Amino acid sequence: MNGLEEIRVRGGTPLCGSITIQGSKNAALPVMAASLLHRGVSVLRKCPRITDVFCMEEILKSLGAKTWWEQNDLYLDCEDADKTEISSVYTGKMRSSVILLGAMLGRNKEGIMGYPGGCVIGKRPVDLHVCVLQSLGAEVTENDSFIKASCSKMKGCRFVFPKKSVGATEQALLAAVFAEGRTILENCAVEPEILMLCRYLNEMGASIEKTGESRLEITGMTELNGGDMAIPPDRIVAGTYLCAAAATRGKIIIENPPEGEMEAFLEVYRKMGGQYEWNSGKLVANATKVAYPVTDLETEAYPGFPTDLQSPLMAVLATIPGNSSLRENIFEDRFRIVEELKNMGADIQVQGRTARINGGNRLHGAELSAAELRGGAALIIAALAAEGESVIKGCSFIHRGYENICRDLAVLGGQIRENTGNIFYENIQLQEKN
Ligand code: UD1
Repeated sequence: MNGLEEIRVRGGTPLCGSITIQGSKNAALPVMAASLLHRGVSVLRKCPRITDVFCMEEILKSLGAKTWWEQNDLYLDCEDADKTEISSVYTGKMRSSVILLGAMLGRNKEGIMGYPGGCVIGKRPVDLHVCVLQSLGAEVTENDSFIKASCSKMKGCRFVFPKKSVGATEQALLAAVFAEGRTILENCAVEPEILMLCRYLNEMGASIEKTGESRLEITGMTELNGGDMAIPPDRIVAGTYLCAAAATRGKIIIENPPEGEMEAFLEVYRKMGGQYEWNSGKLVANATKVAYPVTDLETEAYPGFPTDLQSPLMAVLATIPGNSSLRENIFEDRFRIVEELKNMGADIQVQGRTARINGGNRLHGAELSAAELRGGAALIIAALAAEGESVIKGCSFIHRGYENICRDLAVLGGQIRENTGNIFYENIQLQEKN
């Protein structure tokens, strides 16, 4: 990518048609890290071809792994992945790379990496990652530019997370599978992607049990076999496309919905006037009657409303007459799209962690800039609902998590195209609409 990418959207067309959802980013990344725990080949099927996955692939290669793709199946051969240092060139781009510290400790008893970066949505400290590794017996040193962890022997422990963290729970799991004895993790995050990681590790031969609502128990092993698993559909991508349908008052069918993982989001969908039904494993959504504002919604750890869908939902609420309010409890700086939405004519006030949306103003096209992944997707949603043309810059953020959002939305009838800097291609009407 050369920084010239932009997405152009002509708004006003209700989305209509059916779509298949890509594999989940947040499931794929920890499973890739887990593959480091086997000295041989592991396979991730239906893996999304997104830049965060490519970045994790590059990191594993820099440690000595060989990787290759067969369509959407990603093969990782970690036989020789014994290097223990990860450059800040990679870790600065992607925060979730920090979980490789636990995997490197498990494999080679040491790891050093550049300080983790990623989307700018708040402070995003790594103190919980450090604490749990220390409890497992690692010595950790950190400064502004790197984190280093080493141990002579990882030992099972009981650790109560003071706060739920997806990444720190994954970190703990990756380190604990090779720790001697039993590890009990309390107040864990239990997002579907974490349970997926547990299933994957168990398939590799680990022993991880969920023994309470947010408790995981691990019995340490000395080696693991190769993993082979299909990455499930991405619940955040599914929610993004349902938001796009809601903002344009369309009707869409999701062919492979992440069933049972979207309850909090679907409850809000229903409150807004959206209708849906499950039909032979598909999710059939009719958003033509979306008309009701939503108040006092808060983002929470799973199974609460996901922070990753807060911005996409805000774009929808901007189109609904009346007063809505959203409170962001997870990341303090996740209202970066507000100024962009205001440029499109939206009326939104932010006070601390709460955004009040006085919805219903007709949105108009504008020059917009994506500052982070989900905020970028939210701008596309707003642009699809707006009158006239919008140009969205900063597309590289969006490619971190969406395989081909322009193609998908064009399949649903959205007037959207992407300028890659080299080829200017129309994504419109690639497939027959249902
Ligand atoms: C993961 C997801 C991200 C999602 C987020 C919350 C991946 C690759 N990313 O991010 O899409 O938005 O969960 O559902 O799976 N915290 C600390 N100290 C720490 C770690 C976290 O205070 O050491 C805080 C964070 O600042 C935040 C909260 O804990 O306020 C939750 O963060 P966490 O669950 O760790 O998010 P990520 O794993 O980074």
